Amino acid sequence: MNVTIVGSQLGDEGKGGIVDLFGEDADVVVRYQGGDNAGHTVVHGDEEYKLRLVPSGVVRGTTGVLGNGCVVNLETLFEEIDRLCERGLRPDVRVSGRAHVVLPYHRVLDRAEEAAKNDEDLRVGTTGNGIGPAYEDKAGRRGIRVAELSRPELLRSRLEYVVPKKRRLAEEIYGVDTGDAFDVDALFETLRAFGDRLADEGMVVNAGSFLAERERESDAILFEGAQGAHIDVDHGNYPFVTSSNPTAGGAIVGTGVSPRMVSDGEIVGVVKAYHSRVGSGPMPTEMVDETASELREKVGGFGTVTGRARRIGWLDLPTLRYAVRVNGVTGIAINHVDALAGLDELRICEAYELDGERLIEPPSTTAAWEQCAPEYQTFDPWDDRDWTKVVVEGYDALPENARAYVEYVSDALDTPLYAVGVGPDRDETVVRRNPFEPAG
Ligand code: IMP
Repeated sequence: MNVTIVGSQLGDEGKGGIVDLFGEDADVVVRYQGGDNAGHTVVHGDEEYKLRLVPSGVVRGTTGVLGNGCVVNLETLFEEIDRLCERGLRPDVRVSGRAHVVLPYHRVLDRAEEAAKNDEDLRVGTTGNGIGPAYEDKAGRRGIRVAELSRPELLRSRLEYVVPKKRRLAEEIYGVDTGDAFDVDALFETLRAFGDRLADEGMVVNAGSFLAERERESDAILFEGAQGAHIDVDHGNYPFVTSSNPTAGGAIVGTGVSPRMVSDGEIVGVVKAYHSRVGSGPMPTEMVDETASELREKVGGFGTVTGRARRIGWLDLPTLRYAVRVNGVTGIAINHVDALAGLDELRICEAYELDGERLIEPPSTTAAWEQCAPEYQTFDPWDDRDWTKVVVEGYDALPENARAYVEYVSDALDTPLYAVGVGPDRDETVVRRNPFEPAG
């Protein structure tokens, strides 16, 4: 059995904890898109691990793979691996030879382009990690792949082709200072050293055949999506998106496995019990009152990677319906139910109103989405309590109003509820069904 875990909103749904929880039954955890723009916090007892590239399951000894759909900043990757080693772990991480490398100039150009956008509305609010420029180079056939790092002549000729173009772009279009980030010799030396380490540690694989082989050996594979459906470059609120495909289809092209390996398995959509967004873009249920500040305060509402304040909104069913459909979600996990405790009243956006029409999914243009007015259902609140006790006692120990809230969402999406998160630790999740276990 294989399981794919995806974000159903805009990222930051708490996928890390769910991957960590269900990943206990996986033999391999694979990331299929994105790079170090992701931020997963995994909590184990008193230990907290903040991961950006290393697949979450690695913390518990599972093999982690970065598929060809990822863009890999090797400096971040090795830093993370080294930090995990210092904490006594032995991370087993493999990287697809087809994955593209995020280079220092990608980061410079990402930030320069954002800074050059003088109209606030055009600014995507990227994480500044060079993700967009790295995918641009991949699509433009001028990127550098992981496997090329161990072929010095090829690597040098690729750099000699691309770097002068990037330097001109930086200097002439964006007027930024270039330095080692745009120096062929410096880049060559750094990348060669990364290539040597990847080779020494036997980290480079053909991800598709590696995973097919593991499946033949009856290993359980977990495909870990980063970010969320609504910042998917194809299915999200373009242009306020990341440059990859966090949706479940990305797990196929981003690893090189057969579509069957994903579609025959379970696809778990992770949902945060409210809505939040780091960066620009439409958000019809955005709250601007003191409830938003209260919630932001409670949930530590700042992005894991960028530290920016999250925009906060009420749970938005149209976005979830869309995510369930696009991903083929077979079960949902609703996180952060504890965060809503103690509020005076709760709301869920049932549908939008746009030009006199009722919409149950977002419109396809971002401009129209910005104009949508939310139609709300109100829900009775619940109090804060000892959530650890709730987890021990199980689903029925959740406050009655919280159960009514999550069951309403599950019914509205016509999708079973697999888990309810009531705290950041993987042990603070009430599990109703483990997708790796056969349905009983
Ligand atoms: P980029 O992926 O750095 O290019 O950023 C593009 C958009 O995706 C921005 O709005 C970011 O805030 C958003 N984004 C990227 N990664 C994450 C994530 O892991 N969680 C939430 N938002 C993200």
